[in-house]
Order: sequence, then structure tokens, then C-alpha cells
Amino acid sequence: MSIAEKFISMEYGPAPEDPKEAAGWLERHGRRFNLFIDGTWRDPAAAEYFDTLDPSNGEKLASVAQGNAADIDAAVRAARAAYPKWRTLTPHARARYLYALARLVQKHSRLLAVLETIDNGKPIRESRDIDIPLVARHFYYHAGWAQLLNQEFPDHEPCGVVGQIIPWNFPLLMLAWKIAPALATGNTVVLKPAEFTPLTALAFAELCEEAGLPAGVVNIVTGDGTTGEALVNHPDVNKIAFTGSTEVGRAIRGATAASHKRLSLELGGKSPFIIFEDADLDGAVEGLVDGIWFNQGQVCCAGSRLLMQESIAEKLLFKIQARMSSLRIGPPLDKAIDIGAIVARVQLDRIQRMVAQGIADGATCWQPEVVLPARGFYYPPTLLSNVQPTSIVAQQEIFGPVLAAMTFRTPREAVELANNTVYGLASCVWSENINVALQVAAQIKAGVVWVNCTNLFDAACGFGGYRESGYGREGGKEGLLEYMEPQWFKQAPKLPAANAISAPHAKETPDASTPAIDRTVKLYIGGKQARPDSGYSMEVHSAGGQLLGEAPLGNRKDIRNAVEAARKAEGWAKATAHNRAQVLYYCAENLALRRSEIANRLSAVVGVEQAAKEVDLSVERIFSYAAWADKFDGAVHSPPFRNIAIAMNEPIGVAGVICPTDAPLLGFLSLVMPLLAVGNTVVAVPSEKYPLIAGDLYQLFDTSDLPGGALNIVTGYASQLLKTLAEHDDVDTIWCYGDETTVASAKAMSTGNLKQVWTNEGRVIDWFDPKVAEGRWFLEHATQVKNIWVPYGE
Ligand code: NAI
Repeated sequence: MSIAEKFISMEYGPAPEDPKEAAGWLERHGRRFNLFIDGTWRDPAAAEYFDTLDPSNGEKLASVAQGNAADIDAAVRAARAAYPKWRTLTPHARARYLYALARLVQKHSRLLAVLETIDNGKPIRESRDIDIPLVARHFYYHAGWAQLLNQEFPDHEPCGVVGQIIPWNFPLLMLAWKIAPALATGNTVVLKPAEFTPLTALAFAELCEEAGLPAGVVNIVTGDGTTGEALVNHPDVNKIAFTGSTEVGRAIRGATAASHKRLSLELGGKSPFIIFEDADLDGAVEGLVDGIWFNQGQVCCAGSRLLMQESIAEKLLFKIQARMSSLRIGPPLDKAIDIGAIVARVQLDRIQRMVAQGIADGATCWQPEVVLPARGFYYPPTLLSNVQPTSIVAQQEIFGPVLAAMTFRTPREAVELANNTVYGLASCVWSENINVALQVAAQIKAGVVWVNCTNLFDAACGFGGYRESGYGREGGKEGLLEYMEPQWFKQAPKLPAANAISAPHAKETPDASTPAIDRTVKLYIGGKQARPDSGYSMEVHSAGGQLLGEAPLGNRKDIRNAVEAARKAEGWAKATAHNRAQVLYYCAENLALRRSEIANRLSAVVGVEQAAKEVDLSVERIFSYAAWADKFDGAVHSPPFRNIAIAMNEPIGVAGVICPTDAPLLGFLSLVMPLLAVGNTVVAVPSEKYPLIAGDLYQLFDTSDLPGGALNIVTGYASQLLKTLAEHDDVDTIWCYGDETTVASAKAMSTGNLKQVWTNEGRVIDWFDPKVAEGRWFLEHATQVKNIWVPYGE
């Protein structure tokens, strides 16, 4: 046998990582762990424990405390008590704690990597070379942000006490993604690890002790979903950050709707992995290994849907099968293992069930001939080809080492298939043609696009989803913003419930000083005036009770038409920022020309003084957003790989807007303009108090070259129209200004497609104060960041 032949046939010998240190750590704790609350280790209130298992052999590793509502309450109290001091520490002092945590993670990296592997089942190669180094990187990066906080985010405050709930697929890394930004910005934390993988979070609690972190700043409460639920429902928590299944994310959205808890959700995905015929196919196949077989495919951004250009499909499938045959599956502590164990029996059952369903749906299943270890939870790498786009395995997250393959012919078809999902977490595009790759990247609705690479992460690059993959970002500057609020907003007074949308308009004695302007306006849909479907209208009265005119009573059908028009007008998003700016400037110019006429009409409702102020400030506000249109741009990150990551501020899509009642013109424009400036299309419900403003507005937009459908105006009872907008599956975001009840209902009704909801939380926004009523804060909520990773070098 030649050396070359020997080389090919040579088998790997076992190369097990030494588990002694981790075993010693478990033994030192008597293989039993309590809760870390207020800097001490406490027995759980109900004295209950659950087992955490080693999925590679099914054996028990330790007993872990099952925290209940009383434990969560104790942890939240500790976090609340620690908050004032932690918040007011100097940024430098907080930076040093984070830096110390980063150093300690590095110092104990071997223990942490082995613990992660025995608790989760992931190959030691991954926990050692990917998870733990990224954990340290996250703390270093955020130590830097803590240091720079006051310079970069003046006038911001932390949210307060944050509740964080994490999954089992990247236990310590998800902890780092959550805790590092929270601490850097001055919040205190209660974190609930996943029940399958609590060990590294407990080891991290010890690092907090070692770093001398003040008691109560970080609290770790282990337990199952009920523990998570108690944290979500605790009234003294200011923010919930969740990573996990879309189903639980939806439940959390519903559960927090009536509170003012801020919410960020990082949920599931069904990410497309697109390979064009001109791609470096061997490179792409290696990418797939990292895309779908990394961490046994239990990755929210796994490239689980392979979209191959038809011309290369056969050749590619052959290459993939050849590569799959050389993947090594076995005990995860072996350093030469590619695929370790599935986290738990229930997850293994779920994978088996879904693959069987895929085959029943007509898919062809191929698996290499591998011998799985006799004990533990293992599943072989699996390729499903001939998958129909509607099949369960093409639509639902399997969360296992299973690739579902489909073909496409043209780039356009590739984009259509890629976006044919309710999710939008990540995607990969493989092509040697940079023009095609970037054009496709721009069209994919996902928070991350990896061009000719896959599953790269860095603390400097925000990560998070579009659509039902959730909202909010983790990492980067945008990730920090999830943990802070403008100072003024935290202190803003409550909007009195009397101002609630739909409040009856007082009919007082007619006021002789305001002239009667009897007029009737229409709805404005798709760039045209439209009669309401109902045929009904509502009377509009002056402050003195005089009849001013009639506005249509829009209904569900009108909203649906308006949403359809807004969706069709998405070309607005593709207009250049310069063009959008020009249109907005033109609007401002036209409003200035009609200043006295509009102010005169408005004065009947808000008085002469406010009317004049509203119109003048409105001109300014439109000018501001025209100015922002080509300046609210993204960033280019330099992660520590040979890549650049282009962070683009993209519009969210179709926005439904419920406008303030009290400043009919200025309030409307303050919400609609930032959305339009960055390319969203809008369906707006104007002030119920003075819906006649719609007439002035559509004349304004008609004469300013705004494309038809970019802005649609539906007058009527705001609470009814809000319901239709919030429940509409083709609306991507709701902006709702109203009292507490109204904004709570906006959140509760929008759980269906998990649309992003931004509200005033029932607080007053002073539209007449440009320092609070315009600018970045609005634009940040009108956009979502997409990171496009592009490698360089040979
Ligand atoms: P899960 O969403 O139930 O669990 C994630 C975390 O949420 C855990 O800490 C859990 O204890 C907690 N939790 C569960 N119910 C809760 C509730 N009502 N309120 C508050 N917290 C709650 O995910 P699970 O059951 O572990 O996995 C099921 C499927 O979810 C997987 O097969 C996979 O498809 C998906 N998944 C997605 C993840 C992602 O990163 N996108 C992570 C984990 C699971």
C-alpha cells in the first residue's frame, strides 16, 4: 500500500479531552447546585431539584435547583436593590468588572469548554474553539462599551432590572450575549438558563464571585419553563430578553403586552443556503458542514434549507454526500469528532418525527453509513432532497443535523424561495460573482447574510431576526440600545386616559369666533382619494362644538386595501436615499406655501396659537427627516476574521401608525416622516379628534411626488382600525401613540406574525419639543439592521 493510499484509509484514533477538571468541579459541589441570588448560594424555596444529563451517554451529571416564583421574586428584589449603586458606578468601574469577567472566562476556558460539552453534547472542538472564545470576546467588547458609554450615549439610562431567558444550544454564549450588554449599560440581571444545560451558567456565577461583582448585580435562577414564566410575569422587571422557540416568544409577547417591559426576542429560523452555479463548490460544501452540521444543526441560524441552482444540483449533491460520509459522529469529548450528541431525548424524538414527516411528504432521504454510539442521543447527518417548498421540513425548524435541499433556476427564483418562510434570521449566498451575491443579499429578508461564508459571529456585529425570527439585536451598538432608554422618556408623564383614542368628543356650545368650514374628506389609498367601504362618516367638531365637516369611517376592508397598496409601493424602499430626501423636502416646501390656509383650519380645533406653531414646526420636522433620509446610514464592522460586515439600516416594511389626537398635524408628521424617510410604506390613522387633517395631508403629498401607496390615510375610530392593523399578517410594524390601555392592546393584538410594536408606553411625548420628538430614536425604531458579511483575500 502506498503512503497516499494509507493516508486515505487511515482511521483516527480516539483523542478524548480530559474531563478530570470538570468532574472534579462537579464533585466539589457534591453534584448538587443551588440558586445564585444576591451573591450567595440559596436552597430553592420549594426544595425541588431536577437532573441534568450528559447526552452522550444519558447519565446524570448533577441535581440542579428548580427555582419557582418565590425564588424569582427573591432574585428580582436582589437585582432591584443592587441597581442604584451599579447604575451610578462610573463607566470605568463597570468596564473593569466586565474586563475581569472576560479574563476569568479565558483563565477557566478549559473547565468551561468541557462542562459545556458534557452538558450539551456539542463537540469539544466547537466549545473549545468557538463558544468559549466568543464568550470572552463578548465580555471584552462590552467592557469597551462600558468605558465609552457616557461619551457615546449621553442622556440615556439603563432599563433597570432585566430578566433574561436563554436556550440550551449555546448555553454560555447566549448568557454572554445577554449579560455583557446588560451590565455594560448599567442594568442588573436575573438570568434563567435552559433546563437541559444549566452548568456553565452556574460556573459563571462563580466567576462573578471571583471577580468581586457586587451582590445582586447578576442572579442565576435555574429551572424549567415555569421558572421562565415567573420571571416574565414579575411586575418589577423592566425588560425581558429571550432566546428560544418562536412559540414561547409569542407567548412572552402576549404575557408582557399589558406591562411596560421592553422586549427583545431572538427566535427560530429556517435559513436559506443559496449556491449559485458559479460558486466555489468545494468551498460551499465546507460552508454547509459549518452551516448545518455545526452543533448537530441545533442552531437558530443553521443553513437548513439548501437552495441549489438547477444546473449544478446533481454534481453538488454528490459532493455533499461524499463530504457527509467523512463526517465523524461520536462522543463529543473526542477532539476529532465533527458531530456530537443531540441535547436530549425529546429533541431526538422531534428530529426523527420531522424527518419521517418529510419523507411522507415526498422527500428523498440520504444518510451516510455510520455506526452511532450504543448509548446516548445521536442522529446521523441527513440530506433530504426533492423537498417541496411547502413540506414541513422546508417550513419548520427541525433543529437537528438535517438539510432540506431544493433547486432554483434564476436569481429571482432563488430570492423568492429564500423569502418563502415566516422566519428571517440568517442566510448564505455562495457565488463568485460579487454583483450577484450582493444583489441577492440585499433582497433577502433576514438579519444576517453571509456571502461565501457561514455562521460567523462577532460581538461587534449585531445579530437578530426579521419577521417571526424576532426583534431586537444582540451585539454591536444596536444591541446596546436594547438595554437603554432616553432619559427624558423614562421620566415622561403618563398620558391621561381621558385622552384615549376613541374618547367621545365633547359637544359644547358653538364657538362663534371660529368660522364654520363645512367640508368632507375622503380616505387616501394607493395615491387616490377613496370612499369608505362602509359608506358612513363621522362628524368632526371644533373645540367649541361647531360642526366642521365629515370624515369617512374606515373599516377592515379599507385597512386591507391600504395595506395592499402599501405593500405594492415597496419600490419606495428601493428609491435612492437622495430621492426620498428630495420628495420630503418638496413636501416641506408645499406645506410652507399653504401655511396660513392649513393653520386657519386647524385653529378651529387646537386654537390659533397651537395651529400656527404646529404648521411651522411641521415644516421643520419634515425638513429634519428629509435631512436624515440620506444620513441615517449603517456601519462597516471589522470582525477579527478576514471579513467585513456591512451593517445596513433597512426599512421594516409596511408600517401601521396610530397618530396622536392632540397635535393632529405635527403628531401625524412626527410619526410618519421618520418611517417614510428610511423607506417604509405607511398606513396611518390620523387624529380622531381632527381627522379632516387628512384632506390637507393628501393634497400635500399628491403635489410632492410621493409615489402612490407609500403613504395611505384611513380615518375612523382608531381603536377599531388599530385592531385590524395589528392583526393583519402583512403589516410588519405598528407604531401606536395612545394611553396605556391602547398601547397594551396594540402589543397584545400583534402576536400573530410577531410584528414589531413601538409605542409611547402611555407616556406623553411633547411634539413641540424637537429635542424629544424627532431624530435618531425614531429612526432606530423605523429600521432593522442587516449585517452582510463579505470575506476578502484568497
Ligand atoms: P423553548 O423555547 O421552550 O426554551 C427556551 C427557554 O425558554 C428555556 O430556558 C425554557 O425553560 C424557557 N421557557 C419555556 N417556556 C417558557 C415560558 N412560557 N415562559 C418563559 N420561558 C419559557 O425551547 P425548547 O423547548 O427547549 O426547544 C423546542 C424547539 O424550539 C427546538 O426544537 C427548536 O426548534 C426551538 N429552539 C430554538 C432556539 C433558537 O435559538 N432559536 C433555541 C432553543 C430551541
